[in-house]
Amino acid sequence: MKTDEKEKKKEKKIPLGRTLYCNFLMLSKIARMTPQYIVFMVIVGLVGGAANSLETIFTYMLFNALDEPDVTFGRMAGYLGVILAVNFLIGLFYAWYYEYYQTVTDKKLQHRMHEELFRHALTMDLACYDDPKFYNDYVWAMDESKGRAVQVLDDTARMIRYLITISTLITLMMRVDVLVGSLLFVGAAADAVLWEVGNRFNFKKNERTKPLHRKNSYVNRVYHLADFAKELRVSRAGENLEKIYSESVNGIVEAEVWNGKLRYGLDLLTEVIDEAARFLPVVLLLFKLYDGTAQLGAFVASINIIWNLNWSMYDLAKNLLRMPENARYVEKYLKFMSYRPTIVSGEIEPGPLETIEMKNVTFSYSPIEPEEPTKKEEKAEAEKEGEEKPEVPKNSLEDVSLTIRRGEKVAIVGYNGAGKTTLTKLLMRLYDPTEGEILYNGRNLKEYGIPGLRAKIGTVFQDYRIFAATVAENVLGRECAEEDRETVADALTKATFADRLAEMEEGMDTPLTKEFSDDGVNLSGGEAQKVAIARIFARPYDLIVMDEPSSALDPAAEYELNHTILAYAKDKTVVFISHRLSTTRMADRILMFADGRLIEEGSHEELMRMNGKYAEMFRLQAEKYRESA
Ligand SMILES: Nc1ncnc2c1ncn2[C@@H]1O[C@H](COP(=O)(O)OP(=O)(O)OP(=O)(O)O)[C@@H](O)[C@H]1O
Ligand SMILES: [Mg+2]
Repeated sequence: MKTDEKEKKKEKKIPLGRTLYCNFLMLSKIARMTPQYIVFMVIVGLVGGAANSLETIFTYMLFNALDEPDVTFGRMAGYLGVILAVNFLIGLFYAWYYEYYQTVTDKKLQHRMHEELFRHALTMDLACYDDPKFYNDYVWAMDESKGRAVQVLDDTARMIRYLITISTLITLMMRVDVLVGSLLFVGAAADAVLWEVGNRFNFKKNERTKPLHRKNSYVNRVYHLADFAKELRVSRAGENLEKIYSESVNGIVEAEVWNGKLRYGLDLLTEVIDEAARFLPVVLLLFKLYDGTAQLGAFVASINIIWNLNWSMYDLAKNLLRMPENARYVEKYLKFMSYRPTIVSGEIEPGPLETIEMKNVTFSYSPIEPEEPTKKEEKAEAEKEGEEKPEVPKNSLEDVSLTIRRGEKVAIVGYNGAGKTTLTKLLMRLYDPTEGEILYNGRNLKEYGIPGLRAKIGTVFQDYRIFAATVAENVLGRECAEEDRETVADALTKATFADRLAEMEEGMDTPLTKEFSDDGVNLSGGEAQKVAIARIFARPYDLIVMDEPSSALDPAAEYELNHTILAYAKDKTVVFISHRLSTTRMADRILMFADGRLIEEGSHEELMRMNGKYAEMFRLQAEKYRESA
C-alpha cells in the first residue's frame, strides 16, 4: 500500500462520542490549569445568550406595539431604552473580556500548556527524533497547543450563547408561524452539512501540506540559524535549499488551489441555500400581510426574529461542526501526551563502578511503532494484500561483547559509521539494546535509576552543544551558585581553557553565543570543545566516555588535554573514542570496531603484531602524517 493511501485510511471520521470526549477533555484540562477562565467562559455564554434574548424580545414588543391604537411614545421609548442599555452593557462586558481578560489569561494558559509539553518532550525516547512521522505529530501538537485550547473555550461559550438565543427565538417564532420556523431550520441544517464538507477539504489539505510545511520551516531555520551561515556562504547548499523551498511552496499553492476551488463551489451553494432560507419565510409572511391575516408591526417583528434566528442557527452549526475539527487536533495532542517512553528508569541506585559489560549486544535504529488499536488489523490487511515488508534497517551494533573494569583506560577506534557513538548512547541509556544486555556491576543497566546512572557516567558527545548561557552554566548544566565557582574554575583549567577564561572580562560569567546578549562570546570550535570537556571534570563521574574529545583541538592542546585527563582520571575508568591514533596509543586496551562488530582487541603493541585492520589503519595514518610533515 502506498504511503498516502495509508494516510488516507488513518484519517477516519471521528465518532460523535469521541468528538465530545476530546472537546470535554480540552475543557477539563483548561479547568485544571486556569479554573477562573472556565467560570468566565460560562458567564460570557450566559450573559451573551441573555442579552441576545432580551434584545429580540424587546424589539418584538416594540414593533408589535405599533399595531396597538393606544400605544404611547413613553412605552416605545422605554422598549428602545432597554434595547440600548442591553447593547451598551454587553458591549462593555465583551470589550473587557476579549480585549483584556482573554488576552492575558490566554498567555498564562499557553505558557502552562507549553511547559507541560516541554516537560513531556524531555521524557521522550531519543528514537522519537529519528522517526519523521512521530516528530511531525509532535511539532504539530506543539504548534496547535497555542490556539486550540482557546478555540475550544470560545466555541463552548458561543454555543451556550446561541442555545439560549435560539430557544428564546423559537418560542417567539411559534407564536407567529410554524411553517416559517421549519423553513429556517431546514436552511440551517443544509448549511451545517456543507460546512462539514468544507471542513473535511480543509483537513485533507492540511494533511497533504504538512510535510511540505516541514520542508519550508527547515529552510527557514537553516537561513536564520547562525550554525548554518558559514556553510551557506561557502558552499552551493543555498541553491538546493531554494529548490526545496520553491518545490514545497509550489506544492502548498497547488493544494491551496485545489482546496480553494472546492471551497468556492461550496460557498456558492451555501449562499444560495442561505438566501432561500432567509427570503422564503419573508415571502410567506408578505402573503399574510396582503391577506390581512397579519399587521405591519407584527410583520416587521417577525422579520427581525427570522433573521436573528437564521444567523444564530448558522453560527451554532458552524460551532458544532468545529467540534470534530477541534477533536482531530486534540487527538494528536493526546497521542503525544499519552506517549510512554520505552526507556524507563529502574529503581536501584548504582554503587561505585566496578565493571561494565556488554553481552552479545545488537542494536538497530528502527523506527518507533505507535501503539494504535488498529495496528493489528492493518498489519493483517497488509499481509493479505501482499504488501512488501518495510526495509529492515541494518544493525548499527552486531553481537558486541566486551568488559571494561574499574580504572581501565580503553580506546575505541574504527572507521566512520562503525558504531562507536551508538555504543556511547547505549551506555547512557539513551537507547536500549535490541538484543543482548549491558551490565553495570553485574546487573542489567535497566535495573538502575536513570538519573543515578547518568551521574556515574559522564559523556562528552561527538556533537556536543554549547547553550546560550554563561560559561559556568554551560559547564555545570544548571545555574552556578557561589559554592560551585571553584569546581567550575578547576574543571575549566583541567580542560585547558584557563588561558582563554583569563581573557574574558566577566570570567566564567561571560555569556556564550550572542543569542541573548550583544556581549556574548562566540567561541572557536576548539574552545567550545574544551568547555564541553570541562563538563566531565565538574562532576565526580566513575566512568568517563569521550567521543572524539580532541577532534577540534590543535596538537599542543590535545597533548596537554590527554595528560590532564590521565592525571585526573587515575582511578577513574575512561573510554576514549578517537580517530587520532596518537591519542589511542595511551590506552591500556584498544577495541577496534568495523561495521558494528568488535573485530580486534588488545594493547597497541599486540594489535600491531596481529597486523590486522588496526595495524593497517595506524600505518596509513602514520604515513599521511609523515607526508604532511
Ligand atoms: N539516529 C540514527 N538513526 C538511524 N541510524 C543511525 C542514527 N545514528 C547513527 N545511525 C547509523 O548507525 C551506524 C553507526 O553510527 P555511529 O554514529 O555509531 O558511527 P561512529 O562509529 O560513531 O562513526 P563516526 O566515526 O563517524 O563518528 C551508521 O551506519 C549510522 O548511519
Ligand atoms: Mg561517532
